[in-house]
Amino acid sequence: MRAHIRFILGDEAVELRDIDPTMTVLDWLRLEKGRAGTKEGCAEGDCGACTVVIARPQDGRLSYRAVNGCIVFMPMLDGCQLLTVEDLKAPDGTLHAVQQSMVDCHGSQCGFCTPGFVMSLFALYRNEESPTDQRIDDVLAGNLCRCTGYAPIAAAAKQMYQEGPAAKDWFAAGEADIVARLEALADGETLCIEADGRRLYAPADIDGLADILEQNPDACIVAGGTDVGLWVTKQLRDITPAVHIGRVAELRRIEETDEAITIGAGVTYDEASSIIAAHYPDFGELIRRIGGLQVRNMGTIGGNIANGSPIGDSPPALIAAGAMLGLRLGSERRTMLLEDFFIDYGKQDRRPGEFVEYVVLPKPEPNTHFRCYKISKRFDQDISAACGAFQLRLDGGNVADIRIAFGGMAATPKRAAATEAALTGKPWTEETIEAALPATEQDYTPLTDWRASAGYRMAVAKNLLRKFHAETSGPATPIRLVGDGRLAHA
Ligand SMILES: Cc1cc2nc3c(=O)[nH]c(=O)nc-3n(C[C@H](O)[C@H](O)[C@H](O)COP(=O)(O)OP(=O)(O)OC[C@H]3O[C@@H](n4cnc5c(N)ncnc54)[C@H](O)[C@@H]3O)c2cc1C
Ligand code: FES
Ligand code: FES
Repeated sequence: MRAHIRFILGDEAVELRDIDPTMTVLDWLRLEKGRAGTKEGCAEGDCGACTVVIARPQDGRLSYRAVNGCIVFMPMLDGCQLLTVEDLKAPDGTLHAVQQSMVDCHGSQCGFCTPGFVMSLFALYRNEESPTDQRIDDVLAGNLCRCTGYAPIAAAAKQMYQEGPAAKDWFAAGEADIVARLEALADGETLCIEADGRRLYAPADIDGLADILEQNPDACIVAGGTDVGLWVTKQLRDITPAVHIGRVAELRRIEETDEAITIGAGVTYDEASSIIAAHYPDFGELIRRIGGLQVRNMGTIGGNIANGSPIGDSPPALIAAGAMLGLRLGSERRTMLLEDFFIDYGKQDRRPGEFVEYVVLPKPEPNTHFRCYKISKRFDQDISAACGAFQLRLDGGNVADIRIAFGGMAATPKRAAATEAALTGKPWTEETIEAALPATEQDYTPLTDWRASAGYRMAVAKNLLRKFHAETSGPATPIRLVGDGRLAHA
């Protein structure tokens, strides 16, 4: 086992021993390195003031990911390059194209959130050549600007490409060297980082993970840390011993067959989104609305399932699509329908030491309709009050099969069994829908909380079934905009 962390900060090789394994990247940068350019706003992944960029080798190049430094633990940097706003200007002091365009467009307003915006734009600039306006909005949605607004910043996002192409900025010249240095760090060793009575393991392969969890059955599993990070920064919880799964290559795979897509538990939302969107456009759009890009660059679908939250966004869509879950304890593997994993509030069918290995998303059969709808107070970067997903297969105008699942309506993500029964075998008409709607009250007894009242949630659930019917019956009608600005058709 290796007892120290190795990564590259800018151009500097870093080795850290005896570091609290739950120290955040933000704290380390500011308190240990004196890099005060990275700011702390919320310390819970919401505001983007702490945005830094993590670069990893991918197909001989570097893939740049903007992340929230306030909820990334230091060992999660192992084998990566970390870039902060201090790294961007060239050795001769010339501002980077992103910085220069922010100056030219007056994008730096309060100044406090500016480094975070710059780093989000830097990752975009390095990864993509001609983003659409919609894409620029998506990239900036995880950075909050509360003063005069986003217009100058969005203008800078376009202007930066006029300053010069990414292929010619000074990071391009050093890219091959950084790739080689990072590849040399990949030693396949399990990390065991320990200090101040806290310990975190980060195994590099799946058998090592299974062994460590079997030996530490009550360990806190950390995938992207977008939930667990807040337990540490906001609830001041001690999560020792923790086991980080982000280095396990087997969990970071997406496998596709004619029938299904298998998504490893360590795959992030952003990595999974394009293949999911290709088969389930609405599900892709739902993922686009989970957190900001910084959250989607770290957060996993596996974590969204395993946390058992009644308001997680991906479980309703996965359940409606008939997803299966793969779990592993030691050398023993089992699978189950995802809907059976959720037993009660805070209770899942997962034994001590067992971990989620993958989720299998079946591809939609021909003649099926799939929709999911997220209802939240704010369109971007908000947690759902309710989230509904519907899958329908018609046979000669009659409902051959329907699966409905909701989050935010019960103690767990849950199917609407009574409503489904009231619809099955009936003609897919408005009359059938209206006759089935009272069954929703047998299926769910929602709560009132600060996100929504019970009455609102029930009305929303019924209206979403009406909306699903309207979108899937009659002639194709332009209904609404989807993520890339296209009109979705019924
Ligand atoms: C700013 C912000 C916005 C957010 N917005 C949304 C949103 O819009 N919709 C939404 O649904 N969620 C949202 N979240 C919550 C969070 O991003 C998701 O729940 C995410 O999917 C968690 O994944 P993770 O990999 O970060 O999990 P982690 O935080 O690493 O872990 C979450 C839980 O799952 C367990 N776990 C993780 N992986 C495994 C595994 N393989 N096996 C067993 N247990 C495991 C952990 O022990 C922990 O209990 C948001 C979070 C933040 C900070
Ligand atoms: S400080 Fe707000 S997202 Fe990190
Ligand atoms: S530029 Fe900082 S809040 Fe708007």
